[in-house]
Amino acid sequence: MYRCPICNQPLTIKEKSSICPTGHSFDRAKSGYFNFLLKNQTIFRGDHPTQIDARRKFLSKNYYLPLANRVNEIILTHSPNVLIDAGCGEGYYTHHIKNENPACEIYGFDISKEAIDKASKQDHSIHYCVSSINRLPYKNRSVQMITSLFAPIDEEEFHRVLGISGILLVVSAHPEHLIELKQVAYDTLVKHEHKSLSTPKFKLIQHEEFSFVLELTQPDITHLFNMTPYGFRTSPKGKERIEAKENLTVNAKFIIETYQKQH
Ligand SMILES: C[S@@+](CC[C@H](N)C(=O)[O-])C[C@H]1O[C@@H](n2cnc3c(N)ncnc32)[C@H](O)[C@@H]1O
Repeated sequence: MYRCPICNQPLTIKEKSSICPTGHSFDRAKSGYFNFLLKNQTIFRGDHPTQIDARRKFLSKNYYLPLANRVNEIILTHSPNVLIDAGCGEGYYTHHIKNENPACEIYGFDISKEAIDKASKQDHSIHYCVSSINRLPYKNRSVQMITSLFAPIDEEEFHRVLGISGILLVVSAHPEHLIELKQVAYDTLVKHEHKSLSTPKFKLIQHEEFSFVLELTQPDITHLFNMTPYGFRTSPKGKERIEAKENLTVNAKFIIETYQKQH
């Protein structure tokens, strides 16, 4: 499954390391993951530990379980044998995918070492590694499905790693996602624009909007805010308003798109 991110040759997996025929070797951490990040890729560290911590606290209360369940329903219709969760963070969805698809071999990667360490400690049945999305340590055509939840996409690499007619499932925030939270934090609302993949490498085969309502209190309102990119882009006044909010009803709204690999 794994190939060397330096020379692309197959990696032999050992208990504490993995090594390619050229001699490039990568250590396995105590919690079980491999670190395939190259020295020149370590400048960008992925999500900030504060964001990771807030996400874990919020997601552990299963507020987004309806989304995890819907993702699993879609995965089951494709019944993959091998799946990669790209930009998996601390592995909340990856863990749910494994639980519902125990026979499927699941891989997860993220550029954040902190996130992968947490994910790896939680579930030893998933093959986790630290890697940049731009240079994946997986062999060509080695998986049937890739999931990407709120994470960056590399069309070239996903196309290379997916087998013939492989499936790419992308979940992103709907422009009206958590609009009530933004209304508290900002004086002026700017909705982001949703963009589907536009490449001959992938064909959109299913598009759906999925939403549910959340009744929140503190500290979960603050955790939700801090796990989103708004947590970093908001003025101190906006943050104070979020922290002062005792109750909030929010609409969690998502776009789920399924693509099929084209030749
Ligand atoms: C919004 S989080 C989503 C995490 C997870 N999929 C979830 O929904 O809980 C986006 C993730 O993408 C990761 N990421 C960002 N840039 C990346 C890159 N270039 N390569 C790999 N992962 C990256 C971040 O570290 C972060 O964990």
